[in-house]
Amino acid sequence: MADNCILDIAAIDDIDMMRELWASLPGLGLGPGDDKAAITGFIMRNPHTCLVLRNNGKIIGTVLGGFDGRRGYVYHLAVKQDYQRNGYATLLLENVVQALKNEGAGKIHLLVFRDNSAAQSFYSACGWHLREDINIFSLL
Ligand SMILES: CC(C)(COP(=O)(O)OP(=O)(O)OC[C@H]1O[C@@H](n2cnc3c(N)ncnc32)[C@H](O)[C@@H]1OP(=O)(O)O)[C@@H](O)C(=O)NCCC(=O)NCCS
Repeated sequence: MADNCILDIAAIDDIDMMRELWASLPGLGLGPGDDKAAITGFIMRNPHTCLVLRNNGKIIGTVLGGFDGRRGYVYHLAVKQDYQRNGYATLLLENVVQALKNEGAGKIHLLVFRDNSAAQSFYSACGWHLREDINIFSLL
């Protein structure tokens, strides 16, 4: 990790920079649940499981962990383009998994768009496995 890169709990004041980072990257599928109020609510409900990586005052990585009392969910794992392939997402993922386990999550899930091959390669490299036995149903 770069000397001045710090892993930290996400704060409400970080949300503008987090959203800027998400908007700069393909693959995240941003929607109505990503406006400032929604992310504020998410962080307030999950104060120990939303993480950022800071470098010289800028946010270069994020991950949102959510625990619903039964399962853990990982959202918006993202690393700024120039910083990718340095192990930062691995670091964020390992730490959010630990934070979710600390909350009591036994199983942890995440969603990846089928055309996001970079993220799929990443999660496979991290030891996560693709479920072939489940379809997702959404109420829009
Ligand atoms: C997916 C993402 C988070 C990976 O971040 P990263 O910091 O580059 O990942 P790491 O450096 O920890 O990668 C660890 C390993 O994952 C695999 N990997 C990561 N990115 C990859 C890519 N683009 N293509 C193929 N394999 C990849 C490699 O095996 C890599 O190890 P290596 O660099 O030694 O080969 C980053 O590409 C990103 O922010 N993408 C846009 C947002 C996104 O799609 N997020 C996922 C939402 S579900």
